[in-house]
Amino acid sequence: MSLIFWIITAYVLGSIPFGLVVAKALCGIDPRTDGSRNIGATNVARLCGMKFGIATLVLDISKGLVPVLMASAWVESNLGLSLVVLAAILGHAFSCFMRFKGGKAVATTVGAFLAVSFWGTLLSAAMCLAVVGLSGHVSMGSLTLALALPVFMLITGNVAFVPVALVVMVLLFWRHKENIRRLARGEENPWTKPKA
Ligand code: G3P
Repeated sequence: MSLIFWIITAYVLGSIPFGLVVAKALCGIDPRTDGSRNIGATNVARLCGMKFGIATLVLDISKGLVPVLMASAWVESNLGLSLVVLAAILGHAFSCFMRFKGGKAVATTVGAFLAVSFWGTLLSAAMCLAVVGLSGHVSMGSLTLALALPVFMLITGNVAFVPVALVVMVLLFWRHKENIRRLARGEENPWTKPKA
């Protein structure tokens, strides 16, 4: 199957707004209008509870992992695979099922990069978790992951995926611009729902 087929498949799968589906169908809340107004696992956990957040996290990671893993059996060039990785991530950030709006794409980034660089991504995710634990802010961890990915692609010998990791780093920072402003003001949302 051709590269264009896998790019489209990755984009369409990446576009599935699992957080929106989980939160609306299973707990009756629209994450686009509450909390941080993001459709990601953090906001779903914040609004609906941890088990719904974990379900969203697993599904959002899977929709990045599955198409890239499948494509890797057909697409031989690393540049081609980089485009498939990017397509899955852009799907989440600019979903064709949400009028090209979407989420911050962190979990989908983890899934897509796991398929091309298992250890580089695992080490980046470990740094992310450490920063979340130390800072108490998921967004700080996400920004750390964005910075760590190109570095760990390089360190683990996956140099071919450094360019796409740099593009994704810029995208993730841009998607987190509101979080960055809140962090700078010391007003970042907690990952639990603030009391009214
Ligand atoms: O992955 C999203 C996370 O970095 C921030 O989520 O809902 O606190 O904006 P949120």
